[in-house]
Amino acid sequence: MKATIIFLLLAQVSWAGPFQQRGLFDFMLEDEASGTGPEDSSDTEDGIHDLEPLGPMCPFRCQCHLRVVQCSDLGLDKVPKDLPPDTMLLDLQNNQITEIKDDDFKNLKNLHSLILVNNKISKISPGAFAPLVKLERLYLSKNQLKELPEKMPKTLQELRAHENEITKVRKAVFSGMNQMIVIELGTNPLKSSGIENGAFQGMKKLSYIRIADTNINTVPQGLPSSLTELHLDGNKITKIDAASLKGLNNLAKLGLSFNIISAVDNGSLANTPHLRELHLDHNKLIKIPGGLAEHKYIQVVYLHNNNISAIGPNDFCPPGYNTKKASYSGVSLFSNPVRYWEVQPSTFRCVYVRSAIQIGNYK
Ligand SMILES: *[C@@H]1O[C@H](CO)[C@@H](O)[C@H](O)[C@H]1NC(C)=O
Ligand SMILES: *[C@@H]1O[C@H](CO)[C@@H](O)[C@H](O)[C@H]1NC(C)=O
Repeated sequence: MKATIIFLLLAQVSWAGPFQQRGLFDFMLEDEASGTGPEDSSDTEDGIHDLEPLGPMCPFRCQCHLRVVQCSDLGLDKVPKDLPPDTMLLDLQNNQITEIKDDDFKNLKNLHSLILVNNKISKISPGAFAPLVKLERLYLSKNQLKELPEKMPKTLQELRAHENEITKVRKAVFSGMNQMIVIELGTNPLKSSGIENGAFQGMKKLSYIRIADTNINTVPQGLPSSLTELHLDGNKITKIDAASLKGLNNLAKLGLSFNIISAVDNGSLANTPHLRELHLDHNKLIKIPGGLAEHKYIQVVYLHNNNISAIGPNDFCPPGYNTKKASYSGVSLFSNPVRYWEVQPSTFRCVYVRSAIQIGNYK
């Protein structure tokens, strides 16, 4: 089991293609955080190192194997000394580390992934990450950070910092981060005013950003046009206006569930011509957002649990000849005050699979 996990971690380390969901790795991060991960029943490794002082170094109680250094769940209150300089992945999750100091990672110039999830980190010294000239993944979730560290390595591709106490995102944090693909900032007490204008601008490869379960009340502005997924569920967004989605020409998935959106202004969805999934369930919409009929690729539209009282015959399908390039596969409209018997059968004339439409009953 352990060998399999390490192999998969190494596969992650050498990964360099476009962003994909990596379910297993996420699963490990989430579930090992709760202490239910598989325990290693051996091992003699520490003993071997004790007997061979000139052999490869490995911090006491950590496990070092195939350039992966595992120091999770050890109750550590600081980063261990004497980390092997060829380390590619350093796992320090589920400890009690409170501070990252300037010299903590010196010599780790081959490190690709640094996992600091579920500690008590509230302070990161400005120079702490400077030696990590190859770092691609930095996982800081479940800590007590009030701000993201500045001077992160420019090689970074993935930053996860959900469940912290972040209230500010400064422009300086992401300036020059040209390799960044994934940013996760969910479950932080962040407000829209705390995100500096253009904070995410300039990251030309950024594909995925999630700022869910925070206090932001508008869609962050100046998002890069490379974005394919924008997840803003569980916030306090009240409105989508013509400027909200400007320039998001490559956006395929937009998550806005569990906000308090009462209007999606005409023309706003026209900014996202490649949209495939739109999640607007659990909001306060009173009508179907305009422009869906003109979208060529949209397949999934969640609108359940809103306050929509009418559905027009051209709300979903283009009038006349069907110009859609993809058919709807999931449209949810239940839990809305629509009199469903008044919806004209032709409303869904461009949908070829009946089960794709969930209308349901309003109580
Ligand atoms: C939005 O577009 C619809 C359909 O084209 C139109 O009936 C409505 O008046 C427009 N609303 C506004 C506020 O422009
Ligand atoms: C639903 O919309 C109607 C107007 O169409 C409004 O009077 C009512 O208060 C809204 N209900 C909720 C729960 O927002």
